[in-house]
Amino acid sequence: MDKLVINGNRPLCGEVYVSGAKNAAVAVIPAALLIEGTCRIENVPGIKDVRILEDILTQLGARIEFDDKNSIVIDSQNINTYSAPYDMIKSMRASYYLLGALLGRFKRAEVAFPGGCDFGFRPIDQHIKGFEALGARVEVEHGLVKAYAEKLVGNKIYLDVVSVGATINLMLAAVKAEGTTVIENAAKEPHVVDIANFLNSMGANIKGAGTDVIKVKGVSALSGGATYSIIPDQIEAGTFMIAAAATAGDVTVRNVIPKHMESLTAKLMEMNIQVVQGEDWIRVIGGDRIQKANIKTLPYPGFPTDLHPPTAVLLCRAEGTSTITEGVWDQRFQYVDELKRMGAKIKVEGRIAVIEGVPRLTGAPISATDLRAGAAMAIAGLAAEGRTEIYNVKYIDRGYENFEEKLRKLGADIRRVTE
Ligand code: EPZ
Repeated sequence: MDKLVINGNRPLCGEVYVSGAKNAAVAVIPAALLIEGTCRIENVPGIKDVRILEDILTQLGARIEFDDKNSIVIDSQNINTYSAPYDMIKSMRASYYLLGALLGRFKRAEVAFPGGCDFGFRPIDQHIKGFEALGARVEVEHGLVKAYAEKLVGNKIYLDVVSVGATINLMLAAVKAEGTTVIENAAKEPHVVDIANFLNSMGANIKGAGTDVIKVKGVSALSGGATYSIIPDQIEAGTFMIAAAATAGDVTVRNVIPKHMESLTAKLMEMNIQVVQGEDWIRVIGGDRIQKANIKTLPYPGFPTDLHPPTAVLLCRAEGTSTITEGVWDQRFQYVDELKRMGAKIKVEGRIAVIEGVPRLTGAPISATDLRAGAAMAIAGLAAEGRTEIYNVKYIDRGYENFEEKLRKLGADIRRVTE
């Protein structure tokens, strides 16, 4: 079991290069199942979730070649099964994209139910409702979601909640359906747009991604043969921006799309943190006096829920009392108890974290309770006085490429210890 050991209280300084977006990659890779041929994907982040998915696709019959560390060629010609049982997908939370992709390809899919995650139950009722609207019969039995259709026919689907997963899954299922599918109240996250762009580059006809109405005109086949480069990771970029601010550092984050970072940039500036940006970079210059702030997480373009735990660490250093209202997930507060062990003063009232600024955090042994909580713990360790040990590093490895190497280049005293 690995742990990260951090000696904190040093400002992060320098430049960091952001990897490809995890939440785009975990959808683009299953989307390649829809292509009866090959595609080349670049800017693939080298993270655990991606490695697991590559493994799953190989087990389904795909051939995957690595062109270089971050580029893969997927050949889905010989996919020979529509079934992804529990054994195959148990360590992958975003396995639900296999449902939309296999259904779109074979009109049939059997995928183990994704189940709960590190911050609570993750329903897929909106995915199922959408598949049914396209003509599929969907049953959940023996731990499997089974979807079957004589044919898939485009339809109008209104999502009751703005769901990234359901929006992407319905694009996958609809891309080769007969006629036009209209997804209303669709998610607008950058990775939703990225999946639509990927599918379009392979021959799909999807319009409106990035707005709340997406139109998918079914095509008979996806030709493939093209190369697609995944967008930079909005959440990784945000994690480094927050780390710079929390350590009173000066970091230029490169390979970002500043537009994707607007909600965070605006909040940082409100907190009295300097942010300067260019075409594909953002520089964050932290200082000693951080203003309190009130934040509500919301679907894009709102403040991202995945940056909630890292931001909470930053607000521990602010003057006065701040709040974070969680507007997406019911149970995203496990990080709070860990931060309290470092001297944070946080109270959780329903879906609101009330954070009272403290003069300093102090290093302690703490646990990553999920991926973004793990990133938050690392930021807390970097900002705190003394030594912090972070356990359950496996969560961080799921979603951040070369996390500690990147931090070390910024001057952090961080190392991985295998016990
Ligand atoms: C994606 O999860 C991300 N994961 C999450 O990031 C992120 O927190 C989340 O979107 C919100 O931005 C991936 O992209 C792989 P949702 P997803 O469907 O798609 C409710 C990370 O750390 N809902 O947009 O599963 C749901 O309960 C991960 O990188 C339904 O009620 O999230 C939640 O309250 C963690 N019914 C809200 O919608 C459904 O059928 C948003 O969920 C689906 C969702």
